[in-house]
Amino acid sequence: MQISICSTLLVTIVLCQPVLSIAEPLPVAREAELHNMLVQDCGSCHGLTFKGGLGPSLLPGDLRGKPRDFLIATILNGRPGTAMPPWHPLMTRQEAEWMLDKLLADARP
Ligand code: HEC
Repeated sequence: MQISICSTLLVTIVLCQPVLSIAEPLPVAREAELHNMLVQDCGSCHGLTFKGGLGPSLLPGDLRGKPRDFLIATILNGRPGTAMPPWHPLMTRQEAEWMLDKLLADARP
């Protein structure tokens, strides 16, 4: 009896762990704002179809080979000495991840 209660608890803890560590999904209205920002703000430098302009192409094929953390850090902190500004005052890390996922899935309007 003792053992089965313990193992039930253990299974519950193990099963719940990943669920607890997953962030809440972004509210739909915020996703719409971020998508707008992606097209209007990011698009103003990276091209309205993300093919590149002042900034490099953000098309899936051009981003895929690059480390994810490096790209997220670029979005949040910008690249000092270049035109790429830091976006962390305007978005969280989770939101920057959302933007990158959108770009990797092809965000062209
Ligand atoms: C004022 C112009 C400008 C704006 C606005 C801008 N970027 Fe950039 N971005 C750049 C430039 C220039 C670079 C390249 C910097 C360098 O030379 O390393 C860059 C680089 C990047 C990179 C790295 C690409 C790579 O292949 O290494 C990512 C990702 C990126 N920008 C995403 C974004 C996102 C997302 C937004 C909008 C939230 C945005 N940028 C808005 C100018 C801009």
